[in-house]
Amino acid sequence: MEHEDGYRGFYGDSQLLYESILIDIESRLNIIRKYKSLNHGRDPIENIKTRIKSPGSMITKLQDKGLVPIAENIPGNIMDAAGARVICTYVDDVYEVARILASQKDLRVIEVKDYIKSPKKSGYRSYHMIIEVPIYIGDECHNVTAEIQIRTLSMDFWASLEHQIRYKHDIPNQEIIASELKRCADEVASVEMSFITIRDMINATKDGGSR
Ligand code: GTP
Ligand code: MG
Repeated sequence: MEHEDGYRGFYGDSQLLYESILIDIESRLNIIRKYKSLNHGRDPIENIKTRIKSPGSMITKLQDKGLVPIAENIPGNIMDAAGARVICTYVDDVYEVARILASQKDLRVIEVKDYIKSPKKSGYRSYHMIIEVPIYIGDECHNVTAEIQIRTLSMDFWASLEHQIRYKHDIPNQEIIASELKRCADEVASVEMSFITIRDMINATKDGGSR
């Protein structure tokens, strides 16, 4: 985890809950990686990043919802104080990782936004889950929520570039840039499908080839 130092002033004791759910999610994902590597010959996950929303962004988000910007107002109102981003190799890996997580009995899926099936107008593609898991702290059990974004390497590549560009202000030719970014998103999606076809062709030619 990056972050944290200097977050405690805002988050107080609840910071431990968000740090703990990120440890929990990362552990579930690491077990999926080991299981897939051992049983299917390939790890579907390239890397995992976790973060707690910065106090600045959290304050803005609470205020936008008309709430007093204090950590006590997060539970029940903001579900993505803790967030994990999971980068997969192929598009079908995204759905497989999501399926395994959702099948876990102590993990509740609160919401799914499938921006792969239905990309945003910007061209943004990613699979978002809001989940809830029990987190045991001392003698108490807390139900904590987090956002898990699952996407491929190329979806992540596109989203990082688009994010960098979008947050540069005073850019001329806004419309041209937006439509170019959309075009790139479509091309990246199509290249990604070709990679799956190539992967499957290679696997079909070798005995017991791994997916
Ligand atoms: P918020 O949670 O308030 O942001 O809105 P929401 O619940 O509608 O969230 P959504 O699931 O649509 O998106 C949440 C996160 O996805 C954002 O914080 C970004 O990290 C990412 N995201 C969504 N849309 C875009 C986009 O067009 N471009 C990029 N680069 N990232 C996006
Ligand atoms: Mg959200």
